Amino acid sequence: MDDLSDEFELKRRFAEFSVTSLPRAPLYASLSAGITADPSLHRLLLDAPPSQRLPVLLFASIHSLLLAEPTHPLADWYPNLRSVPRLPQDDELMPTFLAFVRDHLNEIKQLVSTRSTQTNEVGRSLLFLPPLGMITQEVGAVTMVDVGTSGGVNLLLDKFTYLYEPDNGSLASTVGASSTVSLTTSTRGAVPIPARLPSIAGRLGIDVNPIDVTNAEQARWLEACVWPDQLERFRHLRSAIELARIDPPRIVKGDLVAEISKALARVRPLGHPVIINSWVLNYLHDSDRDAFMYELEHIGAASNLSWIAAEAPALTAGLPWPCEIAENERTQLLLTTWRDGIRTVRHLAECHPHGFWMHWR
Ligand SMILES: C[S@@+](CC[C@H](N)C(=O)[O-])C[C@H]1O[C@@H](n2cnc3c(N)ncnc32)[C@H](O)[C@@H]1O
Repeated sequence: MDDLSDEFELKRRFAEFSVTSLPRAPLYASLSAGITADPSLHRLLLDAPPSQRLPVLLFASIHSLLLAEPTHPLADWYPNLRSVPRLPQDDELMPTFLAFVRDHLNEIKQLVSTRSTQTNEVGRSLLFLPPLGMITQEVGAVTMVDVGTSGGVNLLLDKFTYLYEPDNGSLASTVGASSTVSLTTSTRGAVPIPARLPSIAGRLGIDVNPIDVTNAEQARWLEACVWPDQLERFRHLRSAIELARIDPPRIVKGDLVAEISKALARVRPLGHPVIINSWVLNYLHDSDRDAFMYELEHIGAASNLSWIAAEAPALTAGLPWPCEIAENERTQLLLTTWRDGIRTVRHLAECHPHGFWMHWR
């Protein structure tokens, strides 16, 4: 594509984003509309590799710089940075945004050309907890290996407080003592909520591109990729990062297929190994998913193993999901166990991808 058609495409992407993001992110919707109208702004993404020319990458880059400079006037519009933010319809938003961009032009170009968006959703711990409770009830102390762990925040799930609120008005259940990370979800069906937090005897993460949350810049990038309108997600992530800094989870840098067997061998002496993963296996090629499954079958044939997955079956072909959900694009919670060489797959729930709700089967 030549520069002109690239630019036209970028303009189209921002115009589309200004519409699709409006219900969940009014600030980004308003900024997108302004960027659509200003070629000097949408052209900024021409420095990004073609696969990364996404409005969210430009917004994450600017958010990251603003998090490092939270007293800047532009922060007055960011709901995560001000208790009473200015409204996105305010006429001064675009001139202030433009001034910020001009002052940070080189840094923005550098970020969009070298970074890709990266997430670590702490709300997914709400999904992992009930199956983990089922497993600990059966086997006692467990160890966890989180594949595609990002910054490893879900490895700390026994350090959070949980509130499960039935959507039929029944009494809510809390799990865990008070914590700076307090997560809430709306439930439907008989979710087996554990009476207490599980005892985690060991934990390890694997990621091809791990985030070191003890590194201020890396942690800031993780925070910057959360949309500023999504206050709760931002606060939960920030608090979880603080907890992770006190006792950082161990993370192996590498491909999950290549590392899974070694990781399980490392944690197994400490307790029954449980693999967890959420919105990761969709990034793998079909052949890599086959290879991952081959590894698990091989290990599970020789020794007991549990695997909790929160993935979209339609995007993770080749895994042993029940055929009635094979085409499902929503987040499904699945528990696979190997006991004395016998594999059992259970479809537990359909969930919101960030853990806002779960419908137990
Ligand atoms: C969408 S993020 C999800 C992170 C985390 N599981 C969560 O739910 O918050 C996907 C993660 O998978 C990692 N990833 C992708 N392919 C991988 C692979 N082949 N091996 C290890 N990690 C991988 C990425 O680096 C990224 O951190």
